[in-house]
Amino acid sequence: MTAMTDMTECPFDIGNTPLTPFSVTLNGIQHELFLKEERCNAFGSVKDRVAWYILSHIAATIVSSPSISRYNAEGIERAGARLLIAEPAPGECANTARMRIAGEISAREGQTFLNQYESFLNPASHEHWTAPEVFAAGPFDACFVTSSSGGTARGFSDYLAARQTGTELVLVEPAASSAFLAPACDNGKLKVPGYGSQRRSSFAGMQPDPSMVRVDEASVLAAFSLLEARHLTQIGLSSVGVLVGALEWLSPQTEPKRIVCVCADGDERYLSEIETRYIPAVGSDAFGAACARLQPVISTMQRFATV
Ligand SMILES: Cc1ncc(COP(=O)(O)O)c(C=O)c1O
Repeated sequence: MTAMTDMTECPFDIGNTPLTPFSVTLNGIQHELFLKEERCNAFGSVKDRVAWYILSHIAATIVSSPSISRYNAEGIERAGARLLIAEPAPGECANTARMRIAGEISAREGQTFLNQYESFLNPASHEHWTAPEVFAAGPFDACFVTSSSGGTARGFSDYLAARQTGTELVLVEPAASSAFLAPACDNGKLKVPGYGSQRRSSFAGMQPDPSMVRVDEASVLAAFSLLEARHLTQIGLSSVGVLVGALEWLSPQTEPKRIVCVCADGDERYLSEIETRYIPAVGSDAFGAACARLQPVISTMQRFATV
């Protein structure tokens, strides 16, 4: 999937997110583990890239009132959108004029639904932007991602397939996800936003198929709490799922590995609901057991200065 664009033209602070190095010791072997921290994008998510990438490939039209501030008008134009000022007809209020003109334009020019589940610009944003950033700090033995729409996974897969780098792409999903590869292992509900999908991704069918590690949500929440208690990271829940999948992949390795996890967002949008929403969803027994299992390995993690 190709669709190039010049990311240096992006008027927002999106991209060039930090790659934070850690070490982790499993079975006496010390590995290097890097977290690609997409929470540091201007709007706090890996989705910032997709939004900008799609918008930069279509002609967006903003219909505004004559009272628009110069600041906003300049911002819209700097972002590459077409700005139309809706002049009210006699007796028409400004808002009615905006709606009328937007309606007339959409009828005349056709409407575009920015559908991340279908637009190939979603994976393309990761193939041409996120992945090159990550592998500029490579090589890596393995790269770990999760899937919701499947855009990140497909974009990284296409990037790696075109380069034959030898990096293994590993998808980390909960058992109830059927976004890629196999049908879901169970029919349970998904419990973490952005972590798996119960609809097959329209970007599935990549060559070669990525590897898959299934990590349950109790382990995600346990690892999240353990990492927070140690103030080790500020990554969000789905990102912690990816990290736990990476630790499971590392566990049987007999040589030191250098791996990277793509971390979609940050902890700020989950912290206030951990106790009231997420832990009750997995049950406190499962959460407690997962904490006991993961505590020894997470206690070996150390963070170094960001690359
Ligand atoms: C928190 C979070 N994690 C992971 C993802 C997965 O990204 P993708 O849609 O590229 O599969 C998303 C996407 O919405 C997300 O919001």
